Amino acid sequence: MTTYDARFRVWRGDAEGGGLRDFTVEVHDGEVVLDIVHRLQATQASDLAVRWNCKAGKCGSCSAEINGRPRLMCMTRMSVFERDETVTITPLRAFPVIRDLVTDVSFNYAKAREVPAFVPPPGVAAGAYRMQQVDVERSQEFRKCIECFLCQDTCHVVRDHEENKAAFAGPRFLMRVAELDMHPLDAAADAGLDRKRTAQEEHGLGYCNITKCCTEVCPEGIKITDNALIPLKERAVDRKYDPLVWLGNKIRRR
Ligand code: SF4
Ligand code: F3S
Ligand code: FES
Repeated sequence: MTTYDARFRVWRGDAEGGGLRDFTVEVHDGEVVLDIVHRLQATQASDLAVRWNCKAGKCGSCSAEINGRPRLMCMTRMSVFERDETVTITPLRAFPVIRDLVTDVSFNYAKAREVPAFVPPPGVAAGAYRMQQVDVERSQEFRKCIECFLCQDTCHVVRDHEENKAAFAGPRFLMRVAELDMHPLDAAADAGLDRKRTAQEEHGLGYCNITKCCTEVCPEGIKITDNALIPLKERAVDRKYDPLVWLGNKIRRR
């Protein structure tokens, strides 16, 4: 096994402020960035705050920015960096810092609560649902989400624009709206809930200008933009310019 000393720059501080601190840490073959953060805790900075759980890319806890790019620390191999490169680790920029590498991601939980759940089709017993394989596969892709919130962190709509947060659900939750709107068994419309309208008017679909940065950072490889956001935009536009919907709205307004 080979080892070497690598230079790290880690953000330390809290909601009041902080800054980057330099460390030199031993690295072993095959290690990931989270291993180095743990060694740093064990040897030089026992009070360094970091959130993690599975160390297998499945819990979505260890999100941070490594050399400026939103990534999972447990899935970022040290071998992707040059040995003489300084590796800089900072907390997610779009969310308020609690301490060191731990941020307050409760914005995302608030947005999750704003998306109404799947509405079961009336008259069909649970377990008797049937749908085409293509529809199953579409939902399965979106359900791979581990809620790491890297897509939420990277989207420019909120990354540097705190003022947009109230009106924009972000890619992860617009994807959830898209999944439900395209779900063949979702009976929201029968219950008077128009998911296309709420996508535009309540979840801020119009803020997304399909830059695809969310898709680029998704550790699950979900095609958020192509498979969720663009189809949802198309469906919302179709609804808006549907002459029957237009006529219905006109009559209702009288
Ligand atoms: Fe993370 Fe991808 Fe889910 Fe976004 S869609 S929260 S990047 S797993
Ligand atoms: Fe943001 Fe993704 Fe749209 S990065 S602008 S939600 S395509
Ligand atoms: Fe669970 Fe990294 S520790 S995703």
